[in-house]
Amino acid sequence: MNARESITVDVVAVEQLTPLIKRFTLALPDGAPLPAFSGGAHVLVSMQDGDQWYHNAYSLLGSPHDTRQYQIAVRREEASRGGSAFMHERVQAGTRLAIGTPANLFELARGAKKHVFIAGGIGITPFLAQLNEHTGGELDLELHYAFRSPEHGAFVDELKAGPHAGNVHCYVDSEGQRLDLLKLFKQLDADAHVYVCGPQGLNDAVYANAALLGWPKAQLHSEQFAATDTGGKAFTVVLAKSGIELEVGEDETILKAIERAGVTVESLCREGVCGTCEVAILEGEADHRDQYLDDDEKAAQKTILLCVSRARTARLVIDL
Ligand code: FES
Repeated sequence: MNARESITVDVVAVEQLTPLIKRFTLALPDGAPLPAFSGGAHVLVSMQDGDQWYHNAYSLLGSPHDTRQYQIAVRREEASRGGSAFMHERVQAGTRLAIGTPANLFELARGAKKHVFIAGGIGITPFLAQLNEHTGGELDLELHYAFRSPEHGAFVDELKAGPHAGNVHCYVDSEGQRLDLLKLFKQLDADAHVYVCGPQGLNDAVYANAALLGWPKAQLHSEQFAATDTGGKAFTVVLAKSGIELEVGEDETILKAIERAGVTVESLCREGVCGTCEVAILEGEADHRDQYLDDDEKAAQKTILLCVSRARTARLVIDL
């Protein structure tokens, strides 16, 4: 389990926003305010399904100025590792859930005046709270939101009725509307910061177009919402300090296998983004799937992120 504090909340409302996306409203059982958060923050939702636990990170959507309730949106993933299917099928108004305290790995760059958000599909979620937080015109915010078809455009009506409506640009794929990233970067002020959240392909395209123009990497920020593919061939992990030897199944992560053995590992995002589950490799090679280590660190094979990465060798010994 995550070492962050756990909060018990009740689901007070569930809305079907699109064929694949539901919004869940969460509150403390006694109605007291929940912990403060800032735009871009997420919570880790823990779900128990019999002997099986799922821990999924979801961005908080609502206004950070009102913490009487939290809102999260869950897209039902076709290749669900269980959590999104559980949220869609088993969670309803009245369900009690355990969540972690909010953490923010996707904050706005301090001191910057112009912030440009690029969202693909459910990747819109962290930007909703950013927009809800800064409604007073103190920051220049602009949103580019691409989605598959009109019925998949969750939140479009809210965005168009909100205080940032004039700076919201939507691109509906089924209507032939395309976000021209190169054109967008060419039009940006040199000191703007760009944030992308969406499928890996969108994140990659943003970074590739930025690189074409020599855009500084320090002004690019990303968060990937889609579940990383964490499956593959089974292998053995050995925890060197305790001597515990574990089989990591084809559809299991190393982190889950370790938790199954009753060992606790701190894990903030569980999506290969934050680095809290990084441990040293003592023997064997990792098949890196994370977005935290850079290419040189991955090639060095010194550490591995347990929440998403796998082993390239049949046996992996780690410093745990
Ligand atoms: S828990 Fe964040 S990278 Fe593994």
